[in-house]
Amino acid sequence: MAHFPDDKPNFYGRRRGRKLRATVQDLYDRQLPNLRFDPERAAIDQFATSPEDLFLEIGFGGGENLAAMAAARPHHGFIGAEPFINGVASLVRHIDNQGLPNIRIWDDDVRLIMSAMPDGLLAGAYVLFPDPWPKKRHAARRILAPDVLGELARLIRPGGRLVLASDHSVAKGWLLQSAVTHPKFAWTARRPQDWREQPAELVDTRYMMKAEREDRVPNWFIFSRLPD
Ligand SMILES: C[S@@+](CC[C@H](N)C(=O)[O-])C[C@H]1O[C@@H](n2cnc3c(N)ncnc32)[C@H](O)[C@@H]1O
Repeated sequence: MAHFPDDKPNFYGRRRGRKLRATVQDLYDRQLPNLRFDPERAAIDQFATSPEDLFLEIGFGGGENLAAMAAARPHHGFIGAEPFINGVASLVRHIDNQGLPNIRIWDDDVRLIMSAMPDGLLAGAYVLFPDPWPKKRHAARRILAPDVLGELARLIRPGGRLVLASDHSVAKGWLLQSAVTHPKFAWTARRPQDWREQPAELVDTRYMMKAEREDRVPNWFIFSRLPD
């Protein structure tokens, strides 16, 4: 039985962009029901591949990174959460083109499924280039709010990893500040390259490439989930 929050959390991003092309809409309508993550069922049973470990990507955008990780790591299972329909349609297309069996999609706000997942389910989670919400009065909209970080600390098992990235100076500050001050996470960086270089497991996302074209510098912050 899933434990959904009593009040649906407010979601402030875009749900829909331009109209999907007919072929993309058709693929989305046919494939999404088979790919949709079901919070009522044990996560591991939803993959035909019996994954060794499960990972969550929050806000996968166009899904290029999630698809690349799933292709490179067929022995792992990936749950991606993204409420933006055009992004979900893009990931469905990647999955179909590459025949990826190890991705399940939650096409809505990640906060609606987190409480239904058991402690220690995940070996890792990715929050890459989240919406920066730089203004103080919008701070409550930031994805790494204490409730979400608390859920990530519960869901990622000890020794697992939380990977954060941003190109925005204000967002880098709040991402780092939230995770550094959380008692269950330790920042693994030892030298500047550790936050300047993209981890080898990740690929460039559309959002990241746009940031680089506009001369914004991306950084990656990797945290280890400490023992209980
Ligand atoms: C700036 S985009 C970055 C997308 C992608 N990670 C990339 O690097 O291209 C942030 C994404 O987070 C998604 N997002 C925001 N709040 C979310 C939430 N509560 N649950 C899941 N996704 C969310 C947005 O819809 C948006 O697509």
